[in-house]
Order: sequence, then structure tokens, then C-alpha cells
Amino acid sequence: MSFTFTCPICGGALSKEGNSFRCGKGHCYDRAKSGYVNLLLPGGKNSKLPGDNKQMVNARRDFLDKGFYQPMADALCREAVQELGNLPAVSLLDAGCGEGYYTERLYKALTRAGIDVNLLGLDISKFAAEKAAKRLSSAGEHALIAAASIFHMPVADESCDAVVTLFAPFCGEEFLRVLKKGGLFVMVIPGARHLWGLKQAVYDTPYLNEVQDYAIPGLTFLRSVPVEDTITLRGSEIMDLFQMTPYYYKTSAEGQARAAALQTLETETNFEILLYRK
Ligand SMILES: C[S@@+](CC[C@H](N)C(=O)[O-])C[C@H]1O[C@@H](n2cnc3c(N)ncnc32)[C@H](O)[C@@H]1O
Ligand SMILES: [Zn+2]
Repeated sequence: MSFTFTCPICGGALSKEGNSFRCGKGHCYDRAKSGYVNLLLPGGKNSKLPGDNKQMVNARRDFLDKGFYQPMADALCREAVQELGNLPAVSLLDAGCGEGYYTERLYKALTRAGIDVNLLGLDISKFAAEKAAKRLSSAGEHALIAAASIFHMPVADESCDAVVTLFAPFCGEEFLRVLKKGGLFVMVIPGARHLWGLKQAVYDTPYLNEVQDYAIPGLTFLRSVPVEDTITLRGSEIMDLFQMTPYYYKTSAEGQARAAALQTLETETNFEILLYRK
């Protein structure tokens, strides 16, 4: 394990002892049966940010497992292999890994490219962490999933060769802190027309997504890779997509009913894969 985990209480290094992680001061964190380790501060500020609930996690897993976002996953893996392929070993952090669909694909793609991967997936949602740990179980000691916040990552300074984050909250300071000098940062964001068909079906006046400035202080921008596709959804796939997006929770009951009544939905998908170096 090439990561140095840090104790969320005292910041000391954590060492693995059997099925637990322990710091020098005796704070101890056990791995759950599903394999993830809970590094959330009990009753701390993290408890106000529980992350995705069970319904969202299950909807996302069912939707992604059908391959609707595979073109983006493939492009992400290609970019990661291209940028990291010259290293014999890589410590990769997936910040806000959700139920681990992309985490698993990245792990497999880098391993296939002959890279010795040590992977850490973090998510504040225990439902998501549990699912991700199950997905990554075949990676054994090469992959660890922890329930933890992006805003307080239990990872030592400058210990990651790469940090990836997809559709998750952004904490530039933390990403910079854990990245090694020269390390790779990859962020995937929705492009302007992402899910335009769904928005048209649900809203009276849909708006394009606002794509923000790519600049991140402390990182050098390398390039943006756009990925565009059109997908056709049927039956429960439509609600799976709707429920895994923030739109579902921001939409009126009328808008939700419109989505529920759809038999089929054709929609554009549009992502931007942004690459940076520290
Ligand atoms: C839209 S999902 C994306 C999940 C995954 N990256 C994917 O693309 O499939 C956002 C994820 O961020 C997690 N999340 C939200 N706030 C977080 C925080 N403060 N720290 C860690 N994870 C967080 C949620 O629980 C959720 O799993
Ligand atoms: Zn401690």
C-alpha cells in the first residue's frame, strides 16, 4: 500500500493491523464486512454532509451498469493510461467515488497497461462506500475504499500520483495538498448540453449547463477532452437517470410526474474531461 493514511482525529499516520487501521495514539478504525473502512469523524461536521442516499446510489449503479456512460469511461481510462503509462507504480485517489463504476474501470485499465496500481476511493456516503468496496473486492490489497469527506481527506500530504474526481464536490486545497509535485489531476464535469433531452422533458424553460473557467490555482491546465453521445432510455432507466442527478431533488412534483410518465427518452450526453498537472 503506497498511500499514507492519516487519522481523521489526530492526523497521525495510520498503520494496518489485521482488519483495522490504527494510529500511534491508539485511534482505531475497523473495516466493515463489505470491505470499506469508516474514516468519518463520529458526530463531526461530516455528519451534516451524508452524501448520496441509498436510492441515489442504487439508481446510479443500475444506470451506469447498463453502459450508457461507457464512452466517457473509456475516454477517461485512455487519458489516464496515456498520462500515467510511464510510471511503474501509481497511487490513485478517486475523490467522491460513488459506487465505484469509474474507479473499477480505471483500476482495470491501468493494471492492464502494466502499471502497479494502488487505489483509494473516498466517498462520504456509507451506502456508496459499501457498494464501491464490493465492486473493487477482487483488487484485494491494491484497492481500499473509505467513507470520508473530500474536505478532510485522511491522506498524507503529497502522497498521490493522481487524483480523479467525477461529478463530486470540489475542494482545490485538499486536492493540491495530497498530490505529489508533478502529479496528475483529472476532473470530469457536465458539458453545456449534458442531459438536454431530460431537461426539455421535465422543465418548461430548460437552461444549458454553465461551463466554468477551467483554471485552477496551483495546477497547470493540460487539455479538455469533450465526449458527446446520444442515448435512448426506456422504462425504469429514465427514473434511474433522473434520480441519480441533482435535478430530481430540485424539480417540482409536476416535473417529477412528467419524467415518471415517459415511456422512452432520447437525450444527449456531454462531458468534459479536464486534465491538469501540479
Ligand atoms: C454525483 S455522485 C458521483 C459519484 C461518482 N464519482 C460517479 O461519477 O459515479 C457524487 C458523489 O459525491 C459524494 N459526496 C458528496 N459530498 C461529499 C463529500 N463532502 N466528501 C466525499 N464525497 C462526497 C456523494 O455521496 C456521491 O457519491
Ligand atoms: Zn489518531
